Amino acid sequence: MDATPFPFGPHALPVLRRRYLARDAEGRVVETPEQMLARVAGAVARGEEPWGGAAAAREMERAFLGLMSQGLFLPNSPTLMNAGRELGQLSACFVIPVEDSLESIFEAVKETALIHKSGGGTGFSFSHLRPAGDVVASTRGVSSGPVSFMRVFDMATEAVKQGGTRRGANMGILAVSHPDIEAFIAAKRRPGVLENFNISVLVNDAFMAAARADGPWQLVNPRDGAVARTVSAAGLLEQMVQAAHQSGEPGLAFYEAINRGNPTPGLGPLEATNPCGEQPLLPHESCNLGSLVLPRFLKDGEVDFPTLEEAAALAVRFLDDVIEINRHPLPQVARASRLTRKIGLGVMGLADLLADLELPYDSPEAAALGREVMARIAAAARAASAELGQRRGSFPAFAASRLAGGWSHMRNATVTTVAPTGTLSLLLGCSSGIEPYFALAYTRRVLEERDLVEFNPRFLARLAALGLDTPEQRRTLAASGNATAIQGLPPELGQVFATAHEIDPEAHLAMQAAFQASTDNGVSKTVNLDAQAGPEQVRRVFTRAHALGLKGVTVFRSGCRGRQVLELLPLP
Ligand code: CDP
Repeated sequence: MDATPFPFGPHALPVLRRRYLARDAEGRVVETPEQMLARVAGAVARGEEPWGGAAAAREMERAFLGLMSQGLFLPNSPTLMNAGRELGQLSACFVIPVEDSLESIFEAVKETALIHKSGGGTGFSFSHLRPAGDVVASTRGVSSGPVSFMRVFDMATEAVKQGGTRRGANMGILAVSHPDIEAFIAAKRRPGVLENFNISVLVNDAFMAAARADGPWQLVNPRDGAVARTVSAAGLLEQMVQAAHQSGEPGLAFYEAINRGNPTPGLGPLEATNPCGEQPLLPHESCNLGSLVLPRFLKDGEVDFPTLEEAAALAVRFLDDVIEINRHPLPQVARASRLTRKIGLGVMGLADLLADLELPYDSPEAAALGREVMARIAAAARAASAELGQRRGSFPAFAASRLAGGWSHMRNATVTTVAPTGTLSLLLGCSSGIEPYFALAYTRRVLEERDLVEFNPRFLARLAALGLDTPEQRRTLAASGNATAIQGLPPELGQVFATAHEIDPEAHLAMQAAFQASTDNGVSKTVNLDAQAGPEQVRRVFTRAHALGLKGVTVFRSGCRGRQVLELLPLP
């Protein structure tokens, strides 16, 4: 077995070889992981040429390569896979509009297939489709409704899966006022249905207030605006709670919170997000994500903020150059994406950072640090985008945007997003996004046919330092996946290494809120609940998330069906 070179983690190589490294015409892998980073740096730096010529491109190529090869930053997977190669499609996130006509629906299916083929994920609002059983004028027949059409998207995704760079993922969103909302909420309760979809209900403040007051709620036909039915708001929320308790879905997306952060309301409201929910986008917009690797910014037991800010600024330049060289899969996507030039810089490895600092994830200090880290990154990223705007021109929709009030130039309508970093964190061997450790021992299903067994290296190191790393302790650890049954472990360490299900849901939400406070787009976060948690805990998480002003919320109860694209399975 080949050794994995820095900055990659111990399990990166099979994933890189299968999906990321360039191949020749016969399908043989023809580059090393280091050469992949060089390919990406070289290709992205070409985005400098219109402004600084070849000299600037060479200089930035070195800077980008340094940033990645020191393990400080990685762009989203499609950029790693496709930059400098024939495909050249570099974005992870897309939203495709679906209007209330067969033409629009099947045009969207086609667009989705092309995007999946290139490694991107797609989100849709199905809220504009007339409900099931509604009239179809031209045929005098009846409509199938959103849930039925979602199956078409699901099947298309399934069919494209084999040929694409990775399994396609979708987000289906339906407004809480749609007459088919109950069928939508229940759509994924049975296993094996809509498996290529995550689903979220788009709820608004009026609905949450009606549910709190136990008032009525009107379901409205989007075709003619007529009230189709009036239901109990609390009853409808309860259906979401029960379904999420059972299957982890639907998640909620909060309309007002998302649209308060809409930088370009003149271009229309934000009604849909990318597959994992962290990136609201307008119809046909795409977004390039990138993540800073937090534990790598520790110096002498503290976060080295000047270096973090410098890296954030360089990462913004990188992501803006990605827009320059991106080969968009569709002309409509190119147009919408260049109008706003959205990028999403975020973080990964928060749990590692906190473990290194010996801060329990659920401590107020950890949330305060998370808040400061993201605030510093966001400010540096904004400033970098403003500077780029001055030199290269603001994004074309800037003058009519909300940003024009406070800035004279801005290159990107949004600059920050906290992504799940499912594969990126695996490549670098760090914890994912801002999630706590899911388990201290687990198998990770990385590709369709492979499971990898892993112990948390930081925890093993601490056990070793205490003389507690014995085969028996490892067996104990493997059996439970957490530290609670380890003999002789100091209780403070148990708290530092508490896993997702041991952490109170309120602390999960507090961390999400800490990062959301200065993130332009959304924050990817799952609120984990233990297997015994009842529906009332799901209800509390939903209402708290709304009260905290979060853009969305996802719960996942231990043992219920998974929604993650990457499954993490505790041993045994
Ligand atoms: O780590 P990586 O860059 O591969 O992706 P991520 O941070 O886990 O996910 C970021 C976004 O990539 C998701 O929200 C989706 O839009 C997209 N994605 C996808 O389309 N298909 C996947 N299998 C994974 C992610």
